[in-house]
Amino acid sequence: MKIFLDTADLDEIRRAADANLIDGITTNPSLVAKVAGKRDPKEIYLEICEAVDGPVSLEVVGLDRDTMVSEGKKLAAIHENAVVKVPLTEDGLKACRALVSAGTPVNVTLCFSVSQALLAAKAGATFVSPFVGRIDDVSGEGMQLIHQIRQVYDNYGFDTQILAASIRHPMHVVESMLMGSDCCTIPPKVLWQLSKHPLTDRGLEAFLSDWEGLGAKI
Ligand code: G3P
Repeated sequence: MKIFLDTADLDEIRRAADANLIDGITTNPSLVAKVAGKRDPKEIYLEICEAVDGPVSLEVVGLDRDTMVSEGKKLAAIHENAVVKVPLTEDGLKACRALVSAGTPVNVTLCFSVSQALLAAKAGATFVSPFVGRIDDVSGEGMQLIHQIRQVYDNYGFDTQILAASIRHPMHVVESMLMGSDCCTIPPKVLWQLSKHPLTDRGLEAFLSDWEGLGAKI
């Protein structure tokens, strides 16, 4: 499963990219607003695209088809790694079709149902982003959506990649893998949690204390 980092924070991106643990980045207007301050987001987008060797999702903020397509073309022109993110609305689907037909990869975001995911695939989306955590937030079963989309996409041979998003904790990542999600976009905090296990810490402690007894060096 491909791992994307869900952030616009360059320090976090470089930390994960240095460890070669990520296959790409996803951003959204809220994540950009957290880091941009007075800077032009397009400058930040270029730095992010140069920091990773993989797809970087950059979101439009227009609401009608034509505005989304023109913003999408500007975002795509920033760097070859750019993937244009559009919302799963009627205009978003139309913009998706137009951009994909022009050769621009598109990530259709804010997906909350399998019927929405069907339309994203039929609009030619490269990625679809079902928001698992936000469904859990309203007492729904976010992972059930991943399961349904996987089943429908496999039933009809859609090649849109499922990008599990709005990830809250490591079990969302584990379940996404077990359900066959193609990608998962993870906040930095959760990415580093994935590396943690108390038995690893305890085992290392025991090894080192046993070795210390030797007073030997490698
Ligand atoms: O970037 C898209 C998505 O992963 C954000 O989800 O719910 O953490 O804001 P959330």
